[in-house]
Amino acid sequence: MRVLITGSSGQIGTNLAQALIEQGHGVIGLDNRPNPWTDAFPTCILDLAQTLPARRGALGGAELGAVDALVHLAAHAKVHALVERPLGALENHQMVTNALEFARVNNVPIVLASSREVYGNLAAGQPVPEGAADFRRAPSPYAAMKLAGESLAAAYRRCYGLPFAVIRFSNVYGRHDNDMQRLERAIWIFRQNILEGRPVTVFGESKTLDFTYVDDAVAGLASCLTRLVAGDPGVVGETFNLAYGQGHRLVDLVRLIADTLARRAEIRLEAARPGEVTWYVADLTKARRALDYRPQVAVDEGIPRAMRWAAEHPAGHPPVGSQ
Ligand SMILES: NC(=O)c1ccc[n+]([C@@H]2O[C@H](COP(=O)([O-])OP(=O)(O)OC[C@H]3O[C@@H](n4cnc5c(N)ncnc54)[C@H](O)[C@@H]3O)[C@@H](O)[C@H]2O)c1
Repeated sequence: MRVLITGSSGQIGTNLAQALIEQGHGVIGLDNRPNPWTDAFPTCILDLAQTLPARRGALGGAELGAVDALVHLAAHAKVHALVERPLGALENHQMVTNALEFARVNNVPIVLASSREVYGNLAAGQPVPEGAADFRRAPSPYAAMKLAGESLAAAYRRCYGLPFAVIRFSNVYGRHDNDMQRLERAIWIFRQNILEGRPVTVFGESKTLDFTYVDDAVAGLASCLTRLVAGDPGVVGETFNLAYGQGHRLVDLVRLIADTLARRAEIRLEAARPGEVTWYVADLTKARRALDYRPQVAVDEGIPRAMRWAAEHPAGHPPVGSQ
């Protein structure tokens, strides 16, 4: 099949595109910046918050053409940045709307990227199933607009019969994510500070999250996409958690990164910031059953892999806005 991936220059998009190409599928990317990692597939350059993509006519050098499915990943993906600039969350919702419209007009199934942020802060202890999301508990503008996007997709299915599926990702890490100036992902900030001998700030001593190695996330996403396109009734209109299924305290993650790098880490604790989720472990029962999702890589294997990858692929991309 030929798949359109929005947000294809980002972390999950780049990894998904490479995996789909390896499986023999065609990929066309769409992003508002060129892909900084690979030229294995063409990228239509477009601001999806402003414009509905058209299938004909060159977009930044690439022709979109006919596609069999759409994976919508494009977003401002930094939660705290959208606490500070909530209009960015509205742009995320405009992108979801444009992606759904593209899928409706062209009659193609769509997978939407959502986030474990939608659950907000639940009591620590029990893995969180998909049904636990409640819009009244949205912890941040980012999460609120992810919920709104999920809701809009459900409305498109009811009004127009559009086949969709939603994936709620959780702290995906591993490859194509160490462009720190742009992404500010915790693992890479920890690594940088440890390597430079600076203290590592952790927001919340007991903060515990479910980290997903990128190959697991991409395997689950690709399985969801294939089943959606085949019209699998266990997938169409459904929402899935994808994670590893284990919680790790951030302070322990810092120590694991320091051990992997054979360095010492000095940890500075600060209170969790507004809008942050402080405890999450995914219940993967539904993804296991419907997607045959079997995550393989726990953090004690994934973090050393990620550190090796970053050592071989230092990210020297220009900051956003300068290209
Ligand atoms: N990586 C994770 O841990 C994680 C966790 C939960 C949810 N998600 C969601 O998964 C999706 C992909 O995340 P990611 O980690 O690959 O993020 P990313 O930031 O690496 O990729 C997002 C891409 O979207 C593009 N983009 C932003 N605004 C755009 C616009 N107006 N028009 C066109 N393109 C635009 C960016 O340039 C970027 O390449 C996002 O929707 C994110 O919210 C990711």
